[in-house]
Amino acid sequence: MMTIPLPVHVPVLLQEVLDALVLPPAARILDLTLGLGGHAEALLARADAEARYLGVDRDPEARTLARQRLGSDARLSILACAYEDLWDDPGFLAWRAAQAPEGFDGILADLGVSTLQLRTPERGFSFRDEGPLDMRMDPEHGLSARDWIAGQTDESLADAIYQYGEERASRPIARAILQALHEGHLDTTHDLARAVYRVIPREPAKRKGHSDPATRTFQAIRIAVNGELAQLAASLESAVSHLRPGGRLAVISFHSLEDRIVKQTLRRLAGIYDGPGRTAPVVLPRILKLIPAGGIPPSEAEAAANPPSRSARLRVAERIA
Ligand SMILES: C[S@@+](CC[C@H](N)C(=O)[O-])C[C@H]1O[C@@H](n2cnc3c(N)ncnc32)[C@H](O)[C@@H]1O
Repeated sequence: MMTIPLPVHVPVLLQEVLDALVLPPAARILDLTLGLGGHAEALLARADAEARYLGVDRDPEARTLARQRLGSDARLSILACAYEDLWDDPGFLAWRAAQAPEGFDGILADLGVSTLQLRTPERGFSFRDEGPLDMRMDPEHGLSARDWIAGQTDESLADAIYQYGEERASRPIARAILQALHEGHLDTTHDLARAVYRVIPREPAKRKGHSDPATRTFQAIRIAVNGELAQLAASLESAVSHLRPGGRLAVISFHSLEDRIVKQTLRRLAGIYDGPGRTAPVVLPRILKLIPAGGIPPSEAEAAANPPSRSARLRVAERIA
């Protein structure tokens, strides 16, 4: 197997995840977003020799690097799958039946893109380095960002940029992007960023606390290309159904749209009604306990040492029935 140099990767909210996922002897752990295996490495270091860890990722490069990082640890199995497709995947069902018939003690989802994806220009996720306009977490399936944009109208592209990027200038930005496409100048990440800068000019010296004007549009297109939010709520609900009583689910989100879905889903499964009016029209079944009630942000020390962690939130819940 070819060895790829491991990029520097700092798992986010690591201590908080270790505190949240209490591992009994012979723990069964499901990691829905294995990435570079940072959380997996720390959880496996805590687990005993009888533990079993199933790591899932849809990115082939991440799976290779995670295996490289975690060596030949026989407790780890790696599955190529998108977590939204996991629940009826034959490989998952066979593993679950053989290794975790009682369900999982811990399930982790560390959502979003990895450092590897963001820092590899050829993957086309970042406006900082020039690369092909791709953005697929699984480059073997689906449409690249360029091809996805080519299938949009002014209106549908603007809607996606507004909905997934919370970008107020979504309409002129969508027009500028499609104009660049029709003029034949939309092949790279820098082409996309330039189209955004035509609407919101980039300040030459970035002021402290001001993000690049392309940030929101890149986030939006990445979410749309990878269908990141589409099945998150359903996937979390499926994950909960695979927890054994007392087992815990830990979810790390990186932006408010994601966190809102995680929060609403976990609260609903904890029997908490957030809809209109004072009481729920029906009694909601309570199958989770929230631990603690709110989200856990990174400590000040972590936020200072690893600035990308600043927007992260961890939410934890325990299966009670
Ligand atoms: C933030 S990284 C995880 C980092 C990991 N916890 C670590 O410590 O190395 C997120 C990973 O989830 C993967 N991912 C994102 N959405 C996914 C999905 N729907 N199904 C499977 N994997 C997904 C990405 O490919 C990426 O490798």
